[in-house]
Amino acid sequence: MTLARQQQIQVVAHRGASDEAPEHTLAAYRRAIEDGADALECDVRLTADGHLVCVHDRRVNRTSNGRGAVSALELADLAALDFGSWKNSEASRTSTEGPDWEDTSVLTLERLLELVADAGRRVELAIETKHPTRWAGQVEERLLMLLKRFGLDAPTGAPDAPSPVRVMSFSARSLHRIQAASPHLPTVYLMQFVSPRHRDGRLPRGVPIAGPGIRIVRSHPGYVEKLKRAGHQVHVWTVNEPEDIDLCVGLGVDAIITNRPRAVLHQLGRG
Ligand code: G3P
Ligand code: CA
Repeated sequence: MTLARQQQIQVVAHRGASDEAPEHTLAAYRRAIEDGADALECDVRLTADGHLVCVHDRRVNRTSNGRGAVSALELADLAALDFGSWKNSEASRTSTEGPDWEDTSVLTLERLLELVADAGRRVELAIETKHPTRWAGQVEERLLMLLKRFGLDAPTGAPDAPSPVRVMSFSARSLHRIQAASPHLPTVYLMQFVSPRHRDGRLPRGVPIAGPGIRIVRSHPGYVEKLKRAGHQVHVWTVNEPEDIDLCVGLGVDAIITNRPRAVLHQLGRG
């Protein structure tokens, strides 16, 4: 696994440009690419018939006009739903004209990989496995199969070239499955709080990148330094406010994961 130091802070679009467009839709990812995001974050879940789809919640109720758990629905059921209109009604609370989003059907990971392949420039992917323990390895297996099909599962060739894909999880077990099957893929250990065993800045075995939430960084700014001293890159989520962006810049984090890639790039003097 190759992990080069970042030259500049990487800006990662969280669920796409999800502040402006409905999260996890092609519309949101196209917007993020247009905005200049360096990388795209997405959550993946398995459908009842074994497809990986980009959906954050266990159920589709919040982000679509349907109901039910992703794991109980087949891809055809999900394809019949609209994952954009909830954002129209959110927009209509502040404006009389709701935007008419295009491409708001359920997004498969395969379609997202095609979008990235056709982006015309380097766009990295940060893929989060959601509740992978329930599936006993199937999420990781499907993910690695797809990455292999797109040629994203191999060493980059140059010793210092970073992988275009990394896999993130709150589950160390999920990351260890990825490492065992595909040692070239960088992994990111996500943290909502700092457990005693990681207080000294060390992560689960073999995991190179730390993914602390912004709340950790706000309340324990010294923790970023500990992680870096232990040799880890630090990718912070979800950083939307100008003062939090400044905090991350000051602490020298490696990546900012944000719902507002355009605003972050602007604040970093890159757009
Ligand atoms: O990028 C990591 C972050 O997405 C983890 O939290 O709940 O937004 O998936 P969540
Ligand atoms: Ca996520």
